Amino acid sequence: MHLAGELTILVVSRDDALISAARAGLKERADYRLVIAEDGKTAQERLNDIEVHLLLCDLDTVDDAQDNILTRARVSHPGVCRIAVSSQNRDDADSEAVRRSAAYLYLFKPLTPHQIALMVKRSLEMNELSRRHRLLSRELKISVDDQIFEERVDMSVKGGYSQFEKLVYASAKMADLIVEARKAAVTDLPVLIEGDTGTGKELLARAIHFNSTRVDSPIHVQNCGGMLDSTLHSELFGHVRGAYTGATADRLGLFRAADGGTVFLDEISDVSPSFQVSLLRFLQNGEVKPLGSDKLLHANVRIIAASNRPLLEMVEKGEFRRDLYYRLKGFSLSIPALRDRREDIPVLTDFFIEKYAGVVGRRVIGITQSALDRLQAHQYPGNVRELESEIRRAVALAENGGYITERNLSAVFDNLVVAPDVGQQAEMEGGTLKEMVERLEQRVVVGALTRFRWNQSKAADALGLSRVGLANKIKRYGLHDG
Ligand SMILES: Nc1ncnc2c1ncn2[C@@H]1O[C@H](COP(=O)(O)OP(=O)(O)O)[C@@H](O)[C@H]1O
Ligand SMILES: [Mg+2]
Repeated sequence: MHLAGELTILVVSRDDALISAARAGLKERADYRLVIAEDGKTAQERLNDIEVHLLLCDLDTVDDAQDNILTRARVSHPGVCRIAVSSQNRDDADSEAVRRSAAYLYLFKPLTPHQIALMVKRSLEMNELSRRHRLLSRELKISVDDQIFEERVDMSVKGGYSQFEKLVYASAKMADLIVEARKAAVTDLPVLIEGDTGTGKELLARAIHFNSTRVDSPIHVQNCGGMLDSTLHSELFGHVRGAYTGATADRLGLFRAADGGTVFLDEISDVSPSFQVSLLRFLQNGEVKPLGSDKLLHANVRIIAASNRPLLEMVEKGEFRRDLYYRLKGFSLSIPALRDRREDIPVLTDFFIEKYAGVVGRRVIGITQSALDRLQAHQYPGNVRELESEIRRAVALAENGGYITERNLSAVFDNLVVAPDVGQQAEMEGGTLKEMVERLEQRVVVGALTRFRWNQSKAADALGLSRVGLANKIKRYGLHDG
């Protein structure tokens, strides 16, 4: 599951001795990334943003033995190896948290760097072994099952899919994009991410932040869509008390709150011409002037902006400032629509099944090939977000302990002609254009009739034909039921 050569260890603690022991113990390994969170809330955010492999939790920082980051991670991130650390005199108080979290190890402070190094190494090995074991068992189960499960692209133990933090992909297009994103991450340049809604722009922005030198500082998100200039100004630059009616206290503003870190500006294409000027000034010299104040402050923030409208076209039409556009696109990344990278659909499907099978409380072991074919034939105007909600729904509807089948998919998937290769086949068999087109037409008509069990009005609807139109084609090609 993890990228070769990068294992992330999240330490939740406020104990300086433990944190420095962890830093010292893990620093020799270039393939380890150590991330520190001071409290449970921050730790939960890190778990959601980055790919964590081991969670080491200092129980002195949690105050609820029943419900804390360690017990919650068991449910929300079951693949993460959990280790509890505590003070010896808290043995009784902590036993409940240890039990509920099903921690792999429970140790007392103080821990030395060498102890931490060995424990982390062995725990990660153990976790990887049990992950592989789980996947293999699951595959064996599939292979002894009915013939309805045709050969599937293998995406588990032998690899076949990759991840950049929480972004999952298998397509060459995404692989190329992630290579660029990794390069962008280590520079300190602004990044412009373009892509339709739901393609994963925010996910990518977070992944970039957590792979940059700013990883220990915050990332804040501001959606700029449909906002009044004054609201946006006080959100980003802050305001002073009394700056406008209702401004009853000073507001810091995201730029200063994120000082040292990253601000993600979503829907950047929506900002007004005058606000574009303020942003440009900020990008040029980091100047922050809170609303109602004449003090000039500064913030060191990296900007990642996203747009689902092509910004260059807007520049050419005079709707977006050219100078701001060039400032924003220190690096420019464009995420393709899901329909243009269909190879990602199976791996995303499996990823979302794993994600939701646990949450909804029913175990779903997978998806049938025919249901997956349907998913792969769809256009996805809502991109990955749409696929994700479809899977969440299908997991809830699927039979307990079973597979997602075509019946569990929503109505939009009914009308799909699942014949991705039919066009190509018709072409390969040769003949004149007219013959090829007719062969293709005949196959599509047969496909629709079969799918609707020869209910001609439904098939005609699905094909966008009148009943008479369909009847004519049936006659012309001499088709019959059975
Ligand atoms: N490659 C991906 N792998 C896993 N989840 C993804 C991927 N792309 C998008 N998602 C999920 O789809 C949803 C929409 O992603 P988001 O980043 O908000 O898209 P955008 O900002 O482009 O509208 C989120 O729930 C996100 O987790
Ligand atoms: Mg978004």
